[in-house]
Amino acid sequence: MSLTPEFLVFGATGQQGGAVARALLAKGKTVRAFVRNPLSDSARQLAAEGITLAVGNLSDRASIDRAMAGVSGVFSVQTSSPSGLVTDEEEVAQGIAVADSAHAAGVAHIVYSSGGAAGKGPTGMGHFDSKSRIEDHLRSLPIAATITRPASFMEMMMLPGMGLDSGTFTFFMAPDQPMQMIALEDLGRVNAQILCDPHRYAGQAIELSSQAITVNDLAQAFSEAAGRPIAYQRFPDAVLAQNGFLRKLSELIDEGVLAGLADISALEREFGPMTSLRQWLAGSGKAVFQAALEAPRAEIALR
Ligand SMILES: NC(=O)c1ccc[n+]([C@@H]2O[C@H](COP(=O)([O-])OP(=O)(O)OC[C@H]3O[C@@H](n4cnc5c(N)ncnc54)[C@H](OP(=O)(O)O)[C@@H]3O)[C@@H](O)[C@H]2O)c1
Repeated sequence: MSLTPEFLVFGATGQQGGAVARALLAKGKTVRAFVRNPLSDSARQLAAEGITLAVGNLSDRASIDRAMAGVSGVFSVQTSSPSGLVTDEEEVAQGIAVADSAHAAGVAHIVYSSGGAAGKGPTGMGHFDSKSRIEDHLRSLPIAATITRPASFMEMMMLPGMGLDSGTFTFFMAPDQPMQMIALEDLGRVNAQILCDPHRYAGQAIELSSQAITVNDLAQAFSEAAGRPIAYQRFPDAVLAQNGFLRKLSELIDEGVLAGLADISALEREFGPMTSLRQWLAGSGKAVFQAALEAPRAEIALR
């Protein structure tokens, strides 16, 4: 067995990178995770699962270059400005640094996890347009690359402030507007398959979603999983009037940009069955859903 892992995964202590790293492990692949703090609980957990750690920081190009040595495939993801941890410019610089480093190291294939609103022209939202800029840079490099554009995560609906605890779930969609969403387990599985078959997927930009979810789907699936009625409301106009971030996201959903363009049937033919909201609530989402039902009231915390 080679001592150098086959794949380098960024963000492996986080949601996307964690799902991708574990999906690669499940396929019997070897993985190196790029981590800031090897002593953090999440980094130790990765190591305990058999993942090699490369310590570095996305703002330190030399540390990225060191981590690239010898790998043949890279999963690239960066955090974005709603997290409060980076500016949009920093996200772009980090995404470009990973792409440039992969190219310089002669990596065979890079998968960049972008976002569903990227690559379709300017949106006016910094953390979506940043991803279009990283995509453009990646396409300008002579490296085999696949862009995946995940829809909003089902997990995001469990963040504080959405009202599950109060019996009325509050979110973006208007009653007649389905919104595509993805379960992180699908995101991990699909990106892992892409990493493992570069010749099939390089050069493609693939929109990813598990289900196009309607307001009725939400109310029914949440009520069933909670064992009590959960109603749905769109963010009230008063909230949208005060919060430009939420207003802009709602507008982008109304305009279809954020509602999602993934061809879910085609995804299922290629990658196998996608996880429905109901399945997610009974499976990997069960614990986080129960926690959200019991959470103390909190401010909205989107990212
Ligand atoms: N939420 C959604 O519905 C959704 C949908 C589509 C796309 N997105 C996009 O997904 C991205 C975030 O992905 P995620 O949710 O998987 O992130 P996450 O769970 O917040 O994890 C972020 C990861 O990045 C690492 N990281 C942060 N800053 C770093 C740095 N300077 N150097 C090295 N590593 C660093 C973190 O490591 P540490 O453990 O060291 O902190 C962590 O592993 C954002 O760009 C967002 O716009 C989100």
